[in-house]
Amino acid sequence: MTLAKAILKQDYQVPTFPTGWFAIALSKEVKKGEILSRTFSGKDVVIFRTESGKAAVLDAYCPHMGAHFAHGGSVEGEDIKCPFHGFCFNTDGECTKTGYGTKPSPRAKSYSWPVDEKMGIIFCWYHPEQIAPTYHIDTMESDEFTDYKIHTWEMISNPTETAENSVDVGHFSHIHGYKDPHSINPLKLDGPFLNVKYGMYRNGDFIGKPKKNFLIEFEIFQQGLGFALVEAHTIELGVKTRHLVMPTTIAGKEMYLRIGCAVGKIKDPGKIMPILKILPKSLITKIMHREAFKGYIHDVYQDFKVWQNKIYLTPPALSKGDGPIMQYRAWAAQFDYELNQRVNANIEDN
Ligand code: FES
Ligand SMILES: [Fe+2]
Repeated sequence: MTLAKAILKQDYQVPTFPTGWFAIALSKEVKKGEILSRTFSGKDVVIFRTESGKAAVLDAYCPHMGAHFAHGGSVEGEDIKCPFHGFCFNTDGECTKTGYGTKPSPRAKSYSWPVDEKMGIIFCWYHPEQIAPTYHIDTMESDEFTDYKIHTWEMISNPTETAENSVDVGHFSHIHGYKDPHSINPLKLDGPFLNVKYGMYRNGDFIGKPKKNFLIEFEIFQQGLGFALVEAHTIELGVKTRHLVMPTTIAGKEMYLRIGCAVGKIKDPGKIMPILKILPKSLITKIMHREAFKGYIHDVYQDFKVWQNKIYLTPPALSKGDGPIMQYRAWAAQFDYELNQRVNANIEDN
């Protein structure tokens, strides 16, 4: 049996904790010498930053006798020091010294979670069997865009469900009010990466032109389930925005949903409104950024009621007009480690 077939079985449910890279914290939440306590994919962890600035994620409980590092622990140089007996651990989770100057036991080793910090975000790799990362996130940084503003929610859902939004063409008009969503580039699946491009129309009331509809092209770069970058281009106005979608499982059905918004630096403000020509471009970019961020929070929030209360139906009763939902689901199944194990062992055939 293949993964694509396995997800069609009536009792298939998305994994509680899919594998991959997920945003575990924002860089600014963990300054040098600080320790942050988080639950990530069902596990209690600590995120700390050494004096030289390196961020690391270790299991929260000290391998010596189980104290929680974040409750009374400290950062000492490049190590985290446990509050209970003063054992120190480096960013690889190795015990560098005991509290008594004796030789540490080889068992005094903590799991060091793979970390990748970029663009002000600390990404952490989750795999239930601690298998090393099999892909990397490309944040596509560009001088043409501002930095990201980021908003975080805590909610009930799952990354496999929220990421499905990007191919759920039917909901773009119904939930978000876009008109005539259509495909520009078809769905491209490449290992853990998914790319697709749509066009759709939005009413111009966001710039005080409610009688006009503007074509917006959206290109989605989904990288695993924990990171998506969506570039939106309103061609007529010469405005580009970038949007991040970063769901991160906490425990059970709880997850963080972090969203980010950046805008392309405005080059020709007259295209938006002739009067804007008199203002400095940097000011217009700033205002656009603020407004685009507000609008983006509003748009994503429109999905919340559905996400938080829906069930995952297998198989769904799809109709013409739906997007490539089943292709997406077959792709997303690669992040369901248990299902992969069962398929590889042919257990799904029984
Ligand atoms: S429990 Fe951490 S040093 Fe003893
Ligand atoms: Fe949506």
